[in-house]
Amino acid sequence: MTGQVRGVQLARLLGQWHALPGRRRNPDYAALAGTVRGLLADGRLPLGVRLPAERELAEALRISRTTVTAAYRQLRETGHLASRRGAGSWTMLPGNHRVASTGLWTPLDDREMLDLGVAALAAPPQLLTAARAATEDLPRYLGGAGYHPTGIIELREAVADAYAARGLPTSADQIMVTSGTQHALDLVLRLALAPGGSVLVESPTYPNALAALAGRRARITTHGLAADGWEPDLLLGSLRQTRPKLAYLIPEFQNPTGHLMPASLRERVVAAAHAVGTDLVIDESFVDLPLDGTELPPPVGVYDRHSRVISIGGMSKPYWGGLRIGWVRASAPQVQRLAAVRVGVDMASPVLDQLVAVHLLADADAIVAERRVQLAVQRDALLGALAQRLPDWRVTVPRGGVTLWAELDGPVSSALARAAEEVGVRLAPGPRFGLDGTMERFLRLPFTLPAADLVEAVGRIAAVRYDLDRAGRQRWREPAVIA
Ligand SMILES: Cc1ncc(COP(=O)(O)O)c(C=O)c1O
Repeated sequence: MTGQVRGVQLARLLGQWHALPGRRRNPDYAALAGTVRGLLADGRLPLGVRLPAERELAEALRISRTTVTAAYRQLRETGHLASRRGAGSWTMLPGNHRVASTGLWTPLDDREMLDLGVAALAAPPQLLTAARAATEDLPRYLGGAGYHPTGIIELREAVADAYAARGLPTSADQIMVTSGTQHALDLVLRLALAPGGSVLVESPTYPNALAALAGRRARITTHGLAADGWEPDLLLGSLRQTRPKLAYLIPEFQNPTGHLMPASLRERVVAAAHAVGTDLVIDESFVDLPLDGTELPPPVGVYDRHSRVISIGGMSKPYWGGLRIGWVRASAPQVQRLAAVRVGVDMASPVLDQLVAVHLLADADAIVAERRVQLAVQRDALLGALAQRLPDWRVTVPRGGVTLWAELDGPVSSALARAAEEVGVRLAPGPRFGLDGTMERFLRLPFTLPAADLVEAVGRIAAVRYDLDRAGRQRWREPAVIA
């Protein structure tokens, strides 16, 4: 329990609940309960807070108490409210769902939902074969204690070889295996950023990176991405003016925008970072996934002569997120320091999972080629459905990665996400990817679901989009000036 929300506060959060899409088909209590569920799913109403007493909310909303009683009853039935007689009612999510600090949450077994909130593919068929082969390798490790703080040597070698193949000579002692890219970022932040340190990030950016930075209480400045990507002079200017301790960038098919940073800017960013003493954390999550034969510029690390660049990456996007294998590429001394930090966190990654990764990487060419074909087909299906059903939205065709960043026809992203949830589509609205609640005109759409699901999802989104309009546009009016 983290506190209590008062009637007037909840009324303010509920906003135009009585005018939401689908409203005319629903009684008042169902619309009220639906809006509360939307606020919870969107992270705007926290979990574990006590809701106002029925009478108090009824007064704040100027509706009958029976309506609130029925809404609370429905919320209890759907698992969004827990009540104790005489004590009150607390917000919760059905099952064991938890909300992250970003407000994003993953369903455990909600198979009905078309989940466009998660930008990751299902596992490739080769995963099972790799897992079986890994169990056969396991006896080689069973004679030891199994703790390998920087990772098992064969995986570190395979990852180092992949960097070398991309034109960045790398030895195994420059690689540390982690439990996913997110873990890699967290460890790097623990090493390179004192609590309260300053960090430059792109805006929009990957929300869980913001969560990791929040964990270090970082002071964040942003570089706003333009419709066609980074603005070189502004980015370099920000580095020179704010001299952050660290900059976190996603140069390959940036999440969420899909932009690819050109070689010339990579070189200039590294030079500027060196000049002002900034460490660059380069997130290469999507580097394996250029589409349409797009040529990749050299890795950012190629331009690094002063150990300013720490690269992080992993298996989640080309292979499978459930594997939880990622890595850091840094100088060998930095890797040793990271291993020392890790001892206080999780000691080491699971040996069996690392062996699975070794087998997948041995088959990388074939697996990744299939993923690229699959993603291109799904992206095109998504683009086609958007052009047909939501022609007013503007999208830049991403040349790689797994997401596109749509500019909507109005500042409706959060309202749309709430409405879409009601029709079985989970969305991550634009403000999730920023720091200050802006970006309501944008929506990230991943193309990681099968094409038919994407087309179905766009159809449902389009239906609720037009319902939002019919419910009245007045709630998006400019606020009146109060002098
Ligand atoms: C840019 C970026 N970094 C890190 C991650 C987290 O990856 P992992 O599953 O390897 O922890 C993601 C996943 O969406 C991502 O998009």
